[in-house]
Order: sequence, then structure tokens, then C-alpha cells
Amino acid sequence: MPDATANPYDTLVYPGFALTQAHPDRLATLATLFGMTPAEVSRCRVLELGCGDGVNLIGIALELPEAQCVGVDLAAAGINKGQAIVHELGLKNITLQQYDIMDIGRDFGQFDFIIVHGLYSWVPPAVRNHILTVCKDNLAEHGVAYVSYNTYPGCHLRDMTRNMMTYHVRDVSDPRQRIEESRALIQFVVETGMGNEQYRTSLQKELESILVRSDHAFFHDDLGEVNTPVYFHQFAAHAARHGLQYLSEADFVEIQLGVCPPKAVAVLKQLASDRIAQEQYMDFLKGRRFRQTLLCHAGTKLADEPSMDNVQHFSVSSQLRPETPPVDCASHTPAVFLGTEGRSIKTEHPLMKAALLTLSNAWPHAVHFHDLLAEARVLSGQVATTDEKELLHDARVLAASLLRAYAGTAVEFHLWSPRFVSHPSERPIASPLARLQAREGQTVMNLRHEDIAVEGSLEQQLLQLLDGSRDRAALATDLSKLVELGNLTMQQGGEPITDLKSARHKIAAELEVTLVEIGTKALLVG
Ligand SMILES: C[S@@+](CC[C@H](N)C(=O)[O-])C[C@H]1O[C@@H](n2cnc3c(N)ncnc32)[C@H](O)[C@@H]1O
Repeated sequence: MPDATANPYDTLVYPGFALTQAHPDRLATLATLFGMTPAEVSRCRVLELGCGDGVNLIGIALELPEAQCVGVDLAAAGINKGQAIVHELGLKNITLQQYDIMDIGRDFGQFDFIIVHGLYSWVPPAVRNHILTVCKDNLAEHGVAYVSYNTYPGCHLRDMTRNMMTYHVRDVSDPRQRIEESRALIQFVVETGMGNEQYRTSLQKELESILVRSDHAFFHDDLGEVNTPVYFHQFAAHAARHGLQYLSEADFVEIQLGVCPPKAVAVLKQLASDRIAQEQYMDFLKGRRFRQTLLCHAGTKLADEPSMDNVQHFSVSSQLRPETPPVDCASHTPAVFLGTEGRSIKTEHPLMKAALLTLSNAWPHAVHFHDLLAEARVLSGQVATTDEKELLHDARVLAASLLRAYAGTAVEFHLWSPRFVSHPSERPIASPLARLQAREGQTVMNLRHEDIAVEGSLEQQLLQLLDGSRDRAALATDLSKLVELGNLTMQQGGEPITDLKSARHKIAAELEVTLVEIGTKALLVG
């Protein structure tokens, strides 16, 4: 039998990661788009409930040195781990506390942003209720709360395998055994291949996602004692009972009707009388199983539609690159810009082409809307003017195009400028959190608050050495020492280099390239 007294999050720690979608910058940006006036990101107060080891919040505290961050979690193991990191990094603007959410009252303080990730669906009803009480009582007037949760209808399929697995391991308490036996059961059911085709296909898909899920996520999320998905309309009603209203999803693309086929959009518009209903129907169409919802106080006046007038407040960034440079920004010849994960934009509009080219050159840095407009006007060959009408017209055209691009995840909007450099200095300095994380693994948080994969052991070892004390020669020397000690193996054509001299040559050849690579990943502060 699982031990009912032990906290499962102490038994198997849930390693923290960067919640880019819940960063105060994202929450403030979306709030601004909907007409709110959120707190200044750089000086905000952030509370994270169920913060685990606090790594997400530690990243925020590091990136926003003038912000005040408080994280609470019931499990001691995660909090202890997080406190050790806070201590090592010398951060003074964050406290991580082992604390029960149920004990949080109004006197716990007011926060501009409250983050609740991976908690609402995994706690008993009383705690679920209190999460929303805290989101109401401890949220500043113009504050935004982020709450993620599992949703129906998508989770009906997940429930099917979860119910089989939790039955199967009902008498097993060892986490590793629970994980292995649960996976084995679903594999067995799929391989046996009985039942009708619909059943077999659904199970096969569930098995695929079970097999790629990390052990800790699988253990806590799928096999946890509580896992309560809800329909979006139920969540929205629950929030409303607590004096909160729906603001947006953290991923703006998720609320875009435009992702549905045009015929479906027409039907949706007829079916849905308000935003809640519209999004509920969209969940039916998508078979949605997870949401990351932003809430604000009921009564806060929100725009019906995100306003393009507010785009002028933002800085803009984009990873898109022209498909076939050079781009002719002066004509109406169409140009395609390509990004990662199939993102692309085709535009013939000179101003938008020029803006995308400017953003491409600036990446990974963002460009403020006003500077972007000025640069795009020059690049697209417009003559300098002080004509207010013409400038306003161009600003509106560009803002509308950028808002569409933002809705399609082709550009990002920001209200905060991360502090990083893309070119390594004479004695390069990497983010102290990333250096610390590189000691343990190959996933590190960059200064744009994203988890980044470190490519290979050279990058992983080099990152740890970038504390500003070493120039290129010292870095090469220390990397060679690591090779001698057997802690670093250089490779040639996929094969390990075994003699030291060749390894040194390889280090010399790859050092600068690797430093530049680290810089483009927004991991350097100097
Ligand atoms: C699924 S984990 C999510 C951790 C982290 N938010 C993340 O997404 O990486 C849920 C966390 O909520 C914590 N938790 C559960 N009930 C709690 C309570 N009543 N008070 C504080 N923390 C709680 C657990 O200890 C666990 O660390």
C-alpha cells in the first residue's frame, strides 16, 4: 500500500523548471493587451504556490533583482534544495518557505503576480478552494494570477489509463516500482490488442505520451492520489465564486479563433454568447487536456478584444529569419520568414518585412516598438517625416501586423528587457543559475527565462567555468585539465579523441564557437 503519511513530493522530488509562460513579463504583457495597467515587471511582487524546489522563482529573482519573490511548498525536500541554491547565489530578494497553502491568510501579503502551476488539479477540493481564495485575497488590485490545471474533454482519455494504472499498483508503495509496473500494464494492454479499433487507437496514443513523460511527472501527475480535471467553464465559474474573472490563456495562440477552420469559426460565433462559452467550445474542438489560465479581480475593466493600440508599449523580439536573403523591403515583393517549429510568415508589406528583418538582426534581443517603427520606415525606404498623421498610420499598420504575428507565435512582446549580452566579453560571465545547473545536467535556464538544452559536454563544462575570472587562455587551460582528469572527452567525427595534444587542438578550435553559441542562447551576462 502507498504510505499515506509520507509526502510523495519528499519521496520523489519534482525538479523545477522555467515556467516561461508564467513569467511576470508574460502576465503583464497579456494584461496590458487586454487594457489592464499591471505593476512594473522589474519591481513586482511575486508569489508562487506549490513552488517545489523553487527553481522557476529563483530564475525570476535573479532576472528581476528589484522584485520581491516568495515561494511556498508543503514538501521539505524541494524547499531545502531551493534554499541551498538561493544561498549559493546570494539572492536577497527571494524567500522559499515550507508552508501549507491552507495557512495563507490576508496577512501573508499582497502580490502583483501569483503563480500556481501543477497544483489545482492535484490537490483535494478544500486546497483547490483555498488556492483561489489566495488568488483573490492576496492579489494586488491590478494583479494577475496564473493557474494551470487539467481539463476535459481531453483528460477523459488520460483518465482511462490512469484508472487502470492506479488500480494495478494499488498495493505498491515504492515509487520506482509504481512507475515501472504502471507503464508495463499499459504496454501489455496495447500489445494484446483486444477491444475495438477506437479503444486500441486511443490506448496506443496514451501509451506514447506515457512513455515520453519524465518519471517524476508521470509519478506525480498520472499516478498521484488526486488528479481532478475540470471543464473550462467549471474552472471559470469556480474562479467567479471567488471574485475572480477570466483574463486570458498564458499562451495567446490558444485563444485564437483563427486556428479553427473558417466554417467552424462561423458556427462557434453562433454557439457562444461570451468568451467563456467560446473557449469551452474550442476545448471541445481541440480535445483539450491542459490549461494555463490567467485571472484578475472581477470588476476589472477588460477590453473585449486585445487592443493593437497597446502594442506600442511593448518591446518585440523574433527568431524568424528571411528564407531567401537579401529581403527587398522597398517593394511589395512577397518575402517568407522562417522560425523554429514550423513557424513562418509570408508578407509583402514593406513595413512588416523591414520590421521582421530588423528583429532578425537584433535576435536574441528585443527592439522597442517605437525604435522598430523608426528602423522599419528607414529600411522600407520611407522619407523622414514629422507628419503626425503619416507616422500614426504607419504605427497602426505595423501594430496590427505584429499583433497578428504575436497571435501566431511568430513574434514575442515584452514589457521587460532581460539583461544579457550576446557577445562574450574578454572574461565571459554566464548566468550563475545556469552555471550551477550545468553542474548537474544538460538543461539550464537562460536569462530570457527559458530552459535551454546544453549541447555536449564541452558546452556543459565551459559554462561552469564562465565566472568572469578567466580569459580565453585560462579557459583553454582549464578545459585541458578537465580532459586530463577524465571529466571531459573531446570528440572528432563522433569518435572520442584519446590523445591529449589532439584534444587541446580541438579545444582551441572550438572554444570561440562554443562561447558564441552560449551567447546566442542568452546565457551570458558579460
Ligand atoms: C506537481 S508539483 C508542482 C511543482 C511546481 N509548481 C512545478 O510545476 O514544477 C505540486 C507541488 O505542490 C505542493 N503542494 C501540494 N499541496 C500543498 C499545500 N497544501 N501547500 C503547499 N504546497 C503544496 C507539492 O508538495 C508539490 O511540490
